[in-house]
Amino acid sequence: METLFCTLTGGPGDEEIYRRAGEIIRAGGLVAFPTETVYGLGGNGLNAASSAKIYAAKGRPSDNPLILHIADIAELAPLVSEIPAAAKRLAEAFWPGPMTLIFSKSSLVPDETTGGLATVAVRMPSHPAAQAFIRAAGVPIAAPSANLSGRPSTTSAAHVREDLDGRIDMILDAGPSDIGLESTIVDLTGSIPVILRPGFIGRERLESILGTVDIDKTVLTKPTEDLRPKAPGMKYRHYAPKAEVTLVEGETAPETILAEAARAAEAGKKTGIICSDETAVLYEAPAARLREEGHSLCVFRAGSRRAPETVARKLFDLLRQLDAEGIETVYSETFAEGELGMAIMNRLRKAAGYRILQAPPAGDNKEEKTMIAIGCDHGGYALKQEILQHLAKRGLETKDLGCFSEASCDYPVYAKAVANAVASGEAEKGILICGTGIGVSITANKVRGIRAAAVSDCFTAEATRLHNDANVLCMGARTLGPGLALKIVDIFLDTPFSGEERHARRIAQIED
Ligand code: TXA
Ligand code: MG
Repeated sequence: METLFCTLTGGPGDEEIYRRAGEIIRAGGLVAFPTETVYGLGGNGLNAASSAKIYAAKGRPSDNPLILHIADIAELAPLVSEIPAAAKRLAEAFWPGPMTLIFSKSSLVPDETTGGLATVAVRMPSHPAAQAFIRAAGVPIAAPSANLSGRPSTTSAAHVREDLDGRIDMILDAGPSDIGLESTIVDLTGSIPVILRPGFIGRERLESILGTVDIDKTVLTKPTEDLRPKAPGMKYRHYAPKAEVTLVEGETAPETILAEAARAAEAGKKTGIICSDETAVLYEAPAARLREEGHSLCVFRAGSRRAPETVARKLFDLLRQLDAEGIETVYSETFAEGELGMAIMNRLRKAAGYRILQAPPAGDNKEEKTMIAIGCDHGGYALKQEILQHLAKRGLETKDLGCFSEASCDYPVYAKAVANAVASGEAEKGILICGTGIGVSITANKVRGIRAAAVSDCFTAEATRLHNDANVLCMGARTLGPGLALKIVDIFLDTPFSGEERHARRIAQIED
C-alpha cells in the first residue's frame, strides 16, 4: 500500500487534507495524525474491521484495547453506559487535553475496539489538527500511538514513517509533539479513581479535583503474574530500544555510570550514556577521550532536570536515536519522580526492562555535609534569612557570619569574613548579599583563592560555575526577588566546574 504523506501548515490548504483524511476513515482506512501527546494511528472506532486493521498495522496483540478520540464533549454520551460525576469534573478541568478516562462502554462500541473489555477509554485531544481531523471524519477515532508494537511511541511524523510507511493510508505531519509522552489514563469505574498510566497531568492535579486518587502498582514497579496492570497494554514490553538499557540510581550514580560505560566501551561495545543537561559535563570530556582512543561512547542529553517537560518531549526521540546509531548498551541517569517525573520514570523503567543498578553510597568524606559560609550587609539581611532557611531545607550546613540585623553596617566586614572562610577551606562555597551584589564581590575578590561572581540571572549562575569555578556567589537584594535568588543559589551550588582544560588554564592564570 502506498502511504500518502501530507504536511499541515495551519493554513487554508489544510481543509482539503482533512477532507481526504475523513474520507479514508469513513471508507475503513487508517490515518496517522498528530496530538499534543504523541502521534496516533486512527481508524473508525465504531467499525470492528477498522480496529482489526489497526492491530495488524501495528503488529499489536488484539487484547490490548484502543482509546476512542472525540472532538466534542457531546460525542461522549453515546459511547458509554454512564458518565460518573467524577468524570464530568475531570473532563471540565482537563479536556481537551492529555487525559484519557475509562468508562463502562455502550453497545455502540465494538468489542474489537476495546479488546473484549466491557469498558472503553475515551480522550478529547487539544491539538487543533487532531480536532480538525476527528471532526472531518465525523466518527470517534480509535487510535493507539502510531508506532510498531514494542517500539517507542512516535513524537514526529518522521518516526511514524519509520514504523508504518506502506502499512497505512495516510500520515498527517504537524511537526514534533509538544508533550512527548502519552496521556494520563484514569480509571473511574471503581470506587476510587486510579491512575493506570501516568502522564503530563500528574496525581496532584487530579487530586485537586477529585480528592484521593490511587496509582496502579505496576506504574511504579515491575508487573508480575500476581501483580497485573489494569491497562492491558502496560503489560507488554514497551518503548524498548534494541540496546540493553540499565538505569543507575543512587548518590554516586554519575561515577558508576561513567565506570560501567567506559568498561563496556573498552570491551568493544557501542555504548551510550543518557544524562541531564546539568550533569552532561561529568561525562562529555571522558567520553571524548575514550573516542580518541578508538572506543565508542556517546553521551545523549535528555533535557534539563529543572524543566522535566524538556525530558518528556525528548525521551522517545532519544530512544529511537539509540537504535539509529546502533548503540548496543546504555547506562542512564534517573529523574526525580515529581508530577511529570513519574511519567518519565515509568517509561524509562519499561525501556530498561526494569534493569536497575544501585550505585554505592558516597564514601566517608562525601558524607560530610557541605558547609556554606554566608554574609550580608543591612540591605541583604532579609534575603539572607530566606536563603538560610532554604539551605537548611536542602540539608546543607551553614556558617552565618553576619550581619545579624537590618541596622546600617559596612559590607566589607562581612564580605571579608565569608571570603576568608572559603579561602581557608572552612567552607566549600560562600554566598554574599548587599544592595546590588557589587560591593561584596569587589571585596571578596581581594582575598587570594577567591573567585567571587556577582550574579543576577540563572544563565550566569551556571556559566560562572562551569567556566570560572566561582566559589563565592554575590547577589543584590535590591535587584532580585527571593524566588529568583533561591533559583540562582541552587544552580550555583549544583553546577560542577566543567574541568575543561582551557577553563582550568585561565583560572590558574588568575592567581599568577
Ligand atoms: O496520548 C495517548 O493516549 C495516545 C494518543 C494517540 O492519544 N494514545 C495512546 O494509545 O497512547 P495506546 O493504545 O498506545 O495506549 C493506550 C493504553 C494501553 O495501555 C491500553 O491497554 C489502555 O490504554 N487502555 C485502553 N482501553 C482501556 C480500558 N478499557 N481499560 C484499561 N486500559 C485501557
Ligand atoms: Mg502505545
